[in-house]
Amino acid sequence: MREIKEIAKAIREAERIVVFTGAGISAESGVPTFRGKEGLWKRYRPEELATPQAFARDPKLVWEWYNWRRELIAPLQPNPGHRFVAALETLGAQVTVVTQNIDGLHKKAGSTVIEEVHGNIWQVRCTKEGTITENTQVPLPEIPPHCPECGALLRPNVVWFGEALPQDVWMRALDAASKADLMLVIGTSAVVYPAAGLPENTLAAGGRVVEINPDPTPLSGTVTWSLRMKAGEAGRALAEELGLNI
Ligand code: APR
Repeated sequence: MREIKEIAKAIREAERIVVFTGAGISAESGVPTFRGKEGLWKRYRPEELATPQAFARDPKLVWEWYNWRRELIAPLQPNPGHRFVAALETLGAQVTVVTQNIDGLHKKAGSTVIEEVHGNIWQVRCTKEGTITENTQVPLPEIPPHCPECGALLRPNVVWFGEALPQDVWMRALDAASKADLMLVIGTSAVVYPAAGLPENTLAAGGRVVEINPDPTPLSGTVTWSLRMKAGEAGRALAEELGLNI
């Protein structure tokens, strides 16, 4: 496929690569997306589960939903899409993964520079002290969980609708996007800002952008290449073209 060869060439030539991912890269691992036909927002109302108001109103309900998602995600493994992204680091370029996903699968696949702009479902944050700790207990022994230090409610360390992104993470993501020769945008509907604006930063700075998504998105008409492929398929095809073992 001509596009695969062109994109592989662009990857080989790149010195700074940003891989910007959304729920679609984890779909083939079994993690539900948000807006597809089986998406989470088709079955649950985000304003009832993924907002500060929802948590204030009913922390138990919100934690029951996150506990269910943690139980669902815990046994799941990275797919060839994640493994391709991790293997890019062996090419010598500086690779930064900027992910909207909270599932931790990029780290499980071996990527080492990961900016989680929407947080991580395997971290909890004290609502009083703000301290963030890893918590992989499945199921949670107490719902809702409380801080062992001060007793206050713990919340998932994820970004809810209406909340600001973690400033330090976002600044690093923006910086990487504006310096990238090449951005691979994999598995995002590109409708949730400010994250969805990252590809524009790369394009504006003269970098090239590849979109990998079986469906078109608002980005499709603006990017250098738009591959109508699943993340796993494209990952395998590009890895083969680049001689990467994934
Ligand atoms: N490979 C690649 N892309 C895929 C695959 C696949 N196998 N399957 C689905 N997709 C694409 C869909 O076509 C869609 O464009 O992945 C995208 C998933 O879009 P969303 O479900 O909207 O997920 P995402 O873009 O990550 O949502 C962004 O919205 O709800 C918030 O905080 C949440 O981080 C999330 C943000």
